[in-house]
Amino acid sequence: MPKLFTTLHHLIILSSAAAYLITPSTSSNNNTCRSYCGNITIDYPFALQYGCGHPGFRDLLFCINNVLMFHITSGSYRVLQIDYAYQSLTLHEPHMSTCETLVLGTKGNGFIIEPWRAPYMNPTPDNVFMLISCSPRSPLFQGFPGKHLPCRNVSGMGCEEYYNCPGWESMGRKRMGSSFFGSGPPECCAVPYEAIKGINLTKLECEGYSSAYSVAPLKVDGAGDWSYGIRVRYSVQGSDEFCGACEATGGTCGYGFDGIRQVCMCGNFNSTSNCDSVGLLSSGARSMRLKMFSGIFTYMLAWMTLTVNWI
Ligand SMILES: *[C@@H]1O[C@H](CO)[C@@H](O)[C@H](O)[C@H]1NC(C)=O
Ligand SMILES: *[C@@H]1O[C@H](CO)[C@@H](O)[C@H](O)[C@H]1NC(C)=O
Ligand SMILES: *[C@@H]1O[C@H](CO)[C@@H](O)[C@H](O)[C@H]1NC(C)=O
Ligand SMILES: *[C@@H]1O[C@H](CO)[C@@H](O)[C@H](O)[C@H]1NC(C)=O
Ligand SMILES: *[C@@H]1O[C@H](CO)[C@@H](O)[C@H](O)[C@H]1NC(C)=O
Repeated sequence: MPKLFTTLHHLIILSSAAAYLITPSTSSNNNTCRSYCGNITIDYPFALQYGCGHPGFRDLLFCINNVLMFHITSGSYRVLQIDYAYQSLTLHEPHMSTCETLVLGTKGNGFIIEPWRAPYMNPTPDNVFMLISCSPRSPLFQGFPGKHLPCRNVSGMGCEEYYNCPGWESMGRKRMGSSFFGSGPPECCAVPYEAIKGINLTKLECEGYSSAYSVAPLKVDGAGDWSYGIRVRYSVQGSDEFCGACEATGGTCGYGFDGIRQVCMCGNFNSTSNCDSVGLLSSGARSMRLKMFSGIFTYMLAWMTLTVNWI
């Protein structure tokens, strides 16, 4: 009888060991990549640490004195908001013109995204860029003879209304007729980002720029009510599946040292898929458990064989 009891006891140990092996490691369910900068939450696909988030957004965000900065080839922008539900970021920079102030002298950053990042983010189609005081030699006005300029209204926002802003009065200029100075190129030209793929003030020979976006479906009257800033849409390009599976198994999404390949961080080991499956990048707790389990199993087999022999 004591022997049967011990056998049962061992069986219980065996099954709990098996259960331990099968159960995903929820003990290391800490998202070490999520963080804050001021009152902005930084979460996948963004991150502040290298190796965290999605590789398309690496070396992009920096937290400086609780101010979140977005850094691309054209310069640095302050992040005002990250909207994870609508997958958008709202950016601002001090040298961007608004309704109150026009900033000239080609001081502004404009907006240029590195080609490798373009699949992951772009200004939204309803974001208007208004280019100010561009030279008649500007590429904007070449190849568009007569009235066929690329300038147009974007989501109901354009220069016609922008001219009514106080910023234009402070320039000491008076609007004449429908175009700002009668003949010659317009003093302001509104375009969507896709039309020229990069707001490079130097290349376009413009003195300044402004950017506004519509907070649809609200109808606002006048440029004084527009939201000024750059609205950027981001997307992880179908890599969501990887991260979804990783997070569902208690992991945190990141990428390897090559800055390309995604990895799933599972506490004390990294996986190329998720925390429940093979494809381990480094031996860790899981293989330890496997060894423990096979150790116990071998011991059990030996013990049971012995017991049977004795009976
Ligand atoms: C999770 O993180 C918190 C704070 O960093 C820490 O106190 C806690 O022990 C961690 N939990 C686990 C299971 O690692
Ligand atoms: C974050 O703080 C700023 C002021 O510091 C405030 O204008 C903004 O509304 C806050 N955002 C959120 C989401 O609380
Ligand atoms: C997992 O990958 C991250 C990001 O590359 C790295 O920082 C971390 O050290 C790796 N962890 C292990 C256990 O290899
Ligand atoms: C843009 O909209 C304004 C006012 O809504 C209008 O007067 C103007 O003709 C429009 N411009 C273009 C180029 O469509
Ligand atoms: C902007 O255009 C100028 C002139 O073509 C070029 O030298 C500069 O590298 C461009 N800037 C960026 C960030 O591409």
